[in-house]
Amino acid sequence: MSNIGRARAHAHANIALAKYWGKSDARLNLPAVPSVSLTLREMTTTTTVDPDPRLKEDVFELDGRPARQSELRRVVEMLERVRELARSPIHARVESRNDFPTASGLASSASGFAALAAATTCAYGVSLTPAALSALARASSASAARSVFGGFVLLPAGERGDGRLAARALHPENHWDVRIVVAVTDEGEKDIGSTTGMEGSRKTSPLYAAWLDQAEVLTRRLRKALTARDLDAVGTAMEQSTVAFHAVAMSSVPPAFYWKPATLAVLETVRGLRAKGVPAYATMDAGPHVKVLCEATNVKRVERALRDVPGLRRTIVGSPGPGAVARRL
Ligand code: DP6
Repeated sequence: MSNIGRARAHAHANIALAKYWGKSDARLNLPAVPSVSLTLREMTTTTTVDPDPRLKEDVFELDGRPARQSELRRVVEMLERVRELARSPIHARVESRNDFPTASGLASSASGFAALAAATTCAYGVSLTPAALSALARASSASAARSVFGGFVLLPAGERGDGRLAARALHPENHWDVRIVVAVTDEGEKDIGSTTGMEGSRKTSPLYAAWLDQAEVLTRRLRKALTARDLDAVGTAMEQSTVAFHAVAMSSVPPAFYWKPATLAVLETVRGLRAKGVPAYATMDAGPHVKVLCEATNVKRVERALRDVPGLRRTIVGSPGPGAVARRL
């Protein structure tokens, strides 16, 4: 119990190029499909965990406000897992901040739970391999398993019962000088969270079985194209993965519609860029924002084109970034 102290971690959001949507094991939180992502340097969660023997329960503050019950519950679950490994009964004060909008389909749970896993294990003196840290983050939110690593990352599909399933790095940050321009269309929180949305899809969408097959094929194609740094092939597979998962979400009961008019307007602009010879490709998550993949040399042209889209609030340019890091304070 002696090796316990305040710790802080930084983790970065990641955007899936091949999408995760659907679980093979809801209890262990295992994805039913493989996914591939890029970790983004410019979107950061900073989390501080301060174990304090005087506390009667865990306390969690998110973006400077007390957390809601549902948010607190997921954080306490992670703390419980780490306390079990540390054999410590001590509660903690947790503070977390995102430098981008929280819970709106901007991957805040990915960087959030990766930062929390790194900060909590560091605070409780639990030393884990990167794979074990990734599995710990995955148990809270599967996309968070990917933010433990930098650069281009794979999270394989999980077989039922495989509690050790973890992400792994495919290519380092410097593999490919691409950018993801995040077009923020609406800073409001999403109506249907991804956890609820994808469980709804598994239970009710008539397209779900086809999605499971297609996700395997698209991930394989995307990985090959990523190794070859072939933007047109990566972009084409990425767009198909996005539209297929949204088709599954939209065909669920109740339907999960994440697109807003501005989402379609950005998609139209991206197609327009391609028609003018600028290779740019779009992806969306469980929210209305669009993330545009392009070469670093084309980022200004993409930003300029997006500036005129009605309903667009702002853009964030993301570049390949590092994995999660934690240190004692
Ligand atoms: C659409 O990782 O938030 O962003 O495991 O239930 O916490 P849970 O889901 P989460 O889902 C992310 C889904 C997605 C696609 C992706 O990031 O791969």
